[in-house]
Amino acid sequence: MTTHTRSLGSTGPQVSALGLGCMGMSPLYGEVDRAESIATVHAALDAGVTLLDTGDFYAMGHNEMLIGEALRTAPAALREKALTSVKFGALRDPDGGWSGYDGRPAAVRNFAAYSLQRLGVDHIDVYRIARVDPGVPIEETVGAIAELVEKGHVRHIGLSEASAANIRRAAATAPIADLQIEYAIITRDIEREILPTTRELGIGITAYGVLSRGLISGHFTRDRQLGAGDFRALSPRFQGDNLRHNLDLVEALRKIADEKGVTVAQIAIAWVLSRGEDIVPLVGARTRERLAESLGALDVTLDAADLAAIEEAVPADAAAGTRYPAAQMSHLGTEH
Ligand SMILES: NC(=O)c1ccc[n+]([C@@H]2O[C@H](COP(=O)([O-])OP(=O)(O)OC[C@H]3O[C@@H](n4cnc5c(N)ncnc54)[C@H](OP(=O)(O)O)[C@@H]3O)[C@@H](O)[C@H]2O)c1
Repeated sequence: MTTHTRSLGSTGPQVSALGLGCMGMSPLYGEVDRAESIATVHAALDAGVTLLDTGDFYAMGHNEMLIGEALRTAPAALREKALTSVKFGALRDPDGGWSGYDGRPAAVRNFAAYSLQRLGVDHIDVYRIARVDPGVPIEETVGAIAELVEKGHVRHIGLSEASAANIRRAAATAPIADLQIEYAIITRDIEREILPTTRELGIGITAYGVLSRGLISGHFTRDRQLGAGDFRALSPRFQGDNLRHNLDLVEALRKIADEKGVTVAQIAIAWVLSRGEDIVPLVGARTRERLAESLGALDVTLDAADLAAIEEAVPADAAAGTRYPAAQMSHLGTEH
């Protein structure tokens, strides 16, 4: 059992230092294996991981139903320790298309009612809109979640990819536990404005894309074929010359990892862990093998010399390609 824990901001719960991001257990990164996904959630809980992150729009409820099944079939002692972190608000269509966001209070209550049912739980631990709805003041969306907190359906309020200005407005409305946002050795945009803001306000960070969606895991290869439904098939970082350049950065990291006798993924996760006690990396492991590798990062200590070597190998703006396709960039917190 890992004993590493961190607090989600000054008002949020105590959680395991690594959370399990379950998105890849639904077909957003290619094919999935349901039995292995559930075994991975169970192995994570067994290893002391308490935070399970999902979104109601990950394959239209599929991801929540998967977590619901994993919780139902887990030993009671582990199930009781599990905390659910749920995103809502992204609108889908029957063909898998995306059609904007809905943060109206009535929609928030509707999304929550369905999520509770699919997860099979009586409350959600951290509830957040995936992207701030530009048509609804953030105060209204957060206020609706605050009402769910009052009624006991939700324990804590989170944010996702919110701008510094929206973080301030949300925090003035109700206590905010954490902001979920992308952060990795090759994705450091939050250091400029977002991180100083969350630190000033006592808001924690749940960091996603810590491996840049597998790109800097050390396992991704140039010749890997990505299916049409795989997010990475459209991600600028995974295209042509950008991919070649970014995988060269991974080789520079591999030298550092080899010298320390650890893996590239462990270096990448340990680096995010090293950026502050207020940051909880979400690892997107979807097999027990990848989970075990991720958990190994908790035992990797990066000293000043290691951090300097990483900085030299991969300076802050070294990545080629933006972190989302152009059409999705305007929804991101770091772009305001
Ligand atoms: N708030 C938001 O906007 C937002 C956006 C995206 C994600 N998220 C959340 O954050 C979570 C993590 O994001 P992510 O899945 O993109 O993150 P990630 O950890 O950067 O990437 C996960 C991918 O890396 C590969 N990988 C290789 N080695 C690994 C290892 N040792 N451990 C884990 N993965 C390894 C896996 O692919 P293979 O299995 O093919 O090797 C996996 O699909 C998601 O599951 C989701 O819950 C939130």
